[in-house]
Amino acid sequence: MNFIEFVKTRQSVRSYTEQRVEHEKIEKCLEAARLAPSANNSQPWKFIVVDDEELKNKVAKKTFSSIVPFNRFALQAPVLIVVITEKSNVASQVGGAIKKIQFNLVDIGIAVEHFCLQAVEENLSTCILGWFNKKGVKKVLNIPKNKDVDIVITLGYPKTDTIREKKRKDIDKIRAYNKYF
Ligand SMILES: Cc1cc2nc3c(=O)[nH]c(=O)nc-3n(C[C@H](O)[C@H](O)[C@H](O)COP(=O)(O)O)c2cc1C
Repeated sequence: MNFIEFVKTRQSVRSYTEQRVEHEKIEKCLEAARLAPSANNSQPWKFIVVDDEELKNKVAKKTFSSIVPFNRFALQAPVLIVVITEKSNVASQVGGAIKKIQFNLVDIGIAVEHFCLQAVEENLSTCILGWFNKKGVKKVLNIPKNKDVDIVITLGYPKTDTIREKKRKDIDKIRAYNKYF
């Protein structure tokens, strides 16, 4: 596959088989995330791999509720990656304050996508979750209260190999050369 094919093959998968995910494959995805660029090379991230079934189910149960049930599929995923947004280094924090940008969130977005694209290479599937009970996840994993957990990634082998067509804005709606539009 060339790069654009990887990009097209990565899709949010919400249905997984029970097949165990090999640690070597998880490590490759983490290596891709580790190599991601970040503002001032701050690398403001930590990843907790949750593949102990009992613990994983406890975390998964914090990603949905009876009122907001759409992430219930997380229970099916054999692995959850809990992404901790660490504070940026001082240079990045100062730059971010001046420019009014939270660089650490930009940084984890890039790292998470690196992870997800490497997962495609490993024939694995992912879904990035941004909607979950942050306090609940932190409690289950004994993550200190002052830490931010902004993303959980589901990881596993997909139940089907079907690649959906991407629903995206037309290029003419998002691109112009040399002017705002
Ligand atoms: C920051 C972020 C948060 C997301 N949160 C959720 C979520 O909580 N639940 C979910 O099912 N999908 C979630 N998604 C997946 C998006 O819905 C999905 O990426 C988008 O619809 C495009 O579809 P695709 O990933 O299949 O290309 C999230 C994606 C991102 C980048």
